[in-house]
Amino acid sequence: LRPDFVEILGERYATDPITNVTPSILSKVPIRLHTQPSHPLNTLRTLIESNFPDFSHLSSFSPVVSPFKNFDELSFPKDHPGRSLTDSYYVNKDLMLRTHTSAHEVEVFREGQTQWLLTADVYRRDEIDGSHYPVFHQMEGARIFEATTQGMKEVEEDNFRLERDLARSNIVIDDIPNLSATNPVQDVHDPVHSELVARNLKLSLNTLMLRLFGGASSKENPLRVRWIEAYFPFTSPSFEVEVFFNGKWLEILGCGVVNQATLDTAGVQGQIGWAFGLGLERIAMVLFGIPDIRLFWSQDQRFLSQFSQGAITTFKSYSKYPACFKDVSFWLPQATNLHENDFCDLVRDAAGDLVEDVKKLDDFVHPKTNRQSLCYRINYRSMDRSLSNEEVNDIQKQVIEKLKTQFGVEIR
Ligand code: PHE
Repeated sequence: LRPDFVEILGERYATDPITNVTPSILSKVPIRLHTQPSHPLNTLRTLIESNFPDFSHLSSFSPVVSPFKNFDELSFPKDHPGRSLTDSYYVNKDLMLRTHTSAHEVEVFREGQTQWLLTADVYRRDEIDGSHYPVFHQMEGARIFEATTQGMKEVEEDNFRLERDLARSNIVIDDIPNLSATNPVQDVHDPVHSELVARNLKLSLNTLMLRLFGGASSKENPLRVRWIEAYFPFTSPSFEVEVFFNGKWLEILGCGVVNQATLDTAGVQGQIGWAFGLGLERIAMVLFGIPDIRLFWSQDQRFLSQFSQGAITTFKSYSKYPACFKDVSFWLPQATNLHENDFCDLVRDAAGDLVEDVKKLDDFVHPKTNRQSLCYRINYRSMDRSLSNEEVNDIQKQVIEKLKTQFGVEIR
């Protein structure tokens, strides 16, 4: 069933029993939406880059990385769930598709970059609905400083400038301390240095939030930003940023003071710095009013022609085509498990972007046979046209065939 190799960006990779990348996923790799002219993700990337004009702007790293690079170099524990086959895409046992842009931190620091932004497509296995898609885009930003009196003076000067500009703008920040018992300074850091760097991180990102979301802010109606304590294996202290926009608090990004181990691995000495990572789709959906994450992949001119490079404009929905749902109920063979993400990838391989949503309707174990019964409802809808009933039936038939051959299920 499995091909001997897969081809990604012109390179051939041997497969093995670990391989779980699917044709549908691999077809997305060359597209690189964040570099497509006039695409909302490209405009958003450029807007963020313009907030960091002195940084290197990187965007051409291959998504194929070792699990070592994606996890171990960033101090992820051996049993972290993100490593599992149900959560991540593996090319083979030695290579995977990056799950976050942090996977490139060490190599970029090793290049000697001291302030940089990196944009890339990232891959995570997930459920199917209007706000989750197994391929999305992240931006990583980082800045390091000389951990000396002189270096810290530069941080203070930058902090002074950023603070002054923020004080003149319409922003209200709900802040938290730069360290706490549960969000500690790293042992190897001078607490004064860590404090200054964390403050620089917060000021830089508050400024970014103002640039992204502050367009309509006023004295009466300031932009509201709040800082929340967080945990990442590769930063400490760590934070999350939320912004109040369209009546809701939105999670925007994760960040923190870079683990010294990361810089040590990169061969960087005597420096201290910060890093952040944000998801572009989530932000673009609210800024451009894009209601379904699949739309980013649309080739339809009614979508693409609405955008021009550099401009944030509100998307006008064209009529939604009718949805068509199909249920499938089946018994799993005894003592087998079917992870929801496996089911979703199977559906995506049959339906591509014609699947809008997958919901589990029922799940029980027969008391006598001990077999598990599952029922899923698959919602099919094209964003570009009306689907015929025959077409949907055909896809549903393929889903059922795949369920039988790949998982040995018995349809009910
Ligand atoms: N890589 C993290 C994520 O994907 C975000 C992050 C980046 C957090 C850099 C801290 C520092 O969730």
